[in-house]
Amino acid sequence: MTTDLTELPGGDTVRVEIDDDAIGWVYFNRPEKRNAMNPALNVEMFEVLDALEGDDRVQVVVLTGAGSAWSAGMDLKEYFRETDGKPRWVQNRVRRQGTDWQHHKLISYPKPTIAMVNGWCFGGAFVPLVSCDLAIAAEDAQFGLSEVNWGVTPGNLVTRALAEVIPTRDAMYHIMTGKPFDGRRAEQMRLVNEAVPADRLRERTVELARELSSLSQWVVRGAKMGFRHSRLMSWEAAEDFLYAKHDQAILYDEQARAKGMQGFLDDKTYRPGLSTYES
Ligand code: COA
Repeated sequence: MTTDLTELPGGDTVRVEIDDDAIGWVYFNRPEKRNAMNPALNVEMFEVLDALEGDDRVQVVVLTGAGSAWSAGMDLKEYFRETDGKPRWVQNRVRRQGTDWQHHKLISYPKPTIAMVNGWCFGGAFVPLVSCDLAIAAEDAQFGLSEVNWGVTPGNLVTRALAEVIPTRDAMYHIMTGKPFDGRRAEQMRLVNEAVPADRLRERTVELARELSSLSQWVVRGAKMGFRHSRLMSWEAAEDFLYAKHDQAILYDEQARAKGMQGFLDDKTYRPGLSTYES
């Protein structure tokens, strides 16, 4: 069964469903514009993610696109042309509203996030793609850093996002040439975790989401935040931060550690290398 969250903040540009697997499906919902991100979508997406953060029915958020596109990037008309000539503060606000959810919100999102790339993924769409914790693409999804073709350099945080996940040679080649590539290639360069045939995309995403929600949510949260943030710290600061995350997970979910230890050390029912821990 799928619940439509019509009472959620947001509007026409973002669609949300919650299913029985506790997955919050969040759709870029401008299929007629190939889900290009306009200012309205950026505001609505922030509100939707904010609402799902506190919604107990949702354990994992999947970001995907309605129709044939994941997202064709920033809306060249509404985001760029229509703000040309507007006061600088208006342009700054519009930019910030994009980054607010595409980077800040997603990068520190307390629940696991999966980008399910069902189709076109261009330009500015690379920022939310990289900001999601995990990504699965259809093998035939098309990716592209097309900005050079528009006579501009990659906008927003696209370049920084790429540097986070893909090798320098691949990044330089695609940033400088604008040459598109498919889901298989995206997997090879580790832009996505895996690429699967389009007809298996949803099934594989659900499988992964179920794996994540079978684990203690506090532990998964601590693990992902630990990785995200500690890599930018000194080793000393990281040690302190990571132990704080470790202790926080135990504090918030006392059972998870005790059950895991008992299963392995006492009952001998659990071998991490052989099975998934069932809570
Ligand atoms: N910004 C604004 N509008 C966009 C858009 C974008 N990034 N991407 C697509 N659209 C609009 C088109 O202008 C068109 O609108 P219209 O029906 O009012 O004319 C509509 O979406 C459909 O696009 P179309 O090109 O006809 O669809 P397609 O399926 O043949 O091709 C793409 C899909 C994604 C390959 C193609 O639209 C494209 O190259 N888009 C630009 C992608 C890009 O370079 N993004 C980087 C922006 S930072």
